[in-house]
Amino acid sequence: MHPMLNIAIRAARKAGNHIAKSLENAEKIESTQKGTNDFVTNVDKEAETIIIDTIKASYPDHSIVAEENGVIEGKDSDVQWIIDPLDGTTNFVKGLPHFSVSIAVRIKGKTEVACVYDPMLNELFTAQRGAGAQLNNARIRVKQLKDLQGTVLATGFPYKQKQHSESYFKIMSSLFVDCADFRRTGSAALDLCYLAASRVDGFFELGLKPWDIAAGELIAREAGAIVTDFAGGTEYMKSGNVVASSARGVKSILKTIRENGNEAILK
Ligand code: IPD
Ligand code: CA
Ligand code: CA
Ligand code: CA
Repeated sequence: MHPMLNIAIRAARKAGNHIAKSLENAEKIESTQKGTNDFVTNVDKEAETIIIDTIKASYPDHSIVAEENGVIEGKDSDVQWIIDPLDGTTNFVKGLPHFSVSIAVRIKGKTEVACVYDPMLNELFTAQRGAGAQLNNARIRVKQLKDLQGTVLATGFPYKQKQHSESYFKIMSSLFVDCADFRRTGSAALDLCYLAASRVDGFFELGLKPWDIAAGELIAREAGAIVTDFAGGTEYMKSGNVVASSARGVKSILKTIRENGNEAILK
């Protein structure tokens, strides 16, 4: 195993166990808002500190981009760890036990290793570039689709960018004609991993951040998914707009997005 994946897993498990333990003492969770509908808790910050300390102990010179601390420049700017300490904070705040820790390592702009850990189910999703994706060490693969018939698609609502609601729900209602159903699980990182494990057939969301996407994207691709932005390109880490599925699934979802989305989101 890549030594950095080893450290990523150690950090994700430590942070995940801290988050799960914190949920047992719900009265000690302090929730504030970073912006409209955008929650953060002391536990998000504590989990992030655990991860950063674990990385720094082995790799003091690497750079880090973490949701709650922002960019931490290291001497070695070629290696960048991208961290979401708690993906699914809204679920966590409500006591809804579906959330994850997401850690990816990018070297010269290419994601090399990734892990997403769900501490409530003790499920660890991992991937190493070129070496496939695993759930608890067992190989996972994306289901190949013919079309959207019978599919379940995961998505996230644009709750922080409600100016895009109209366009988004037009896309949803058009897709709803073709697919069987939708899931809005509340953790984009797990949505991408669930796609990788064929628990859902496709995923799309707009307005995501690099830490929501980085680890899940490699895990999905290593499981055989195609991942694109809303224009069918590869700029999703910049635009935050992601479509992921098997090749035919992506084609169908992109067509619907193109036909129903307004110009502001077609990137
Ligand atoms: C959020 C989750 C959610 C997605 C949001 C993200 P957070 O991340 O991934 O599923 O819909 O767009 O911001 O803030 O809970 O880490
Ligand atoms: Ca957040
Ligand atoms: Ca997130
Ligand atoms: Ca988060």
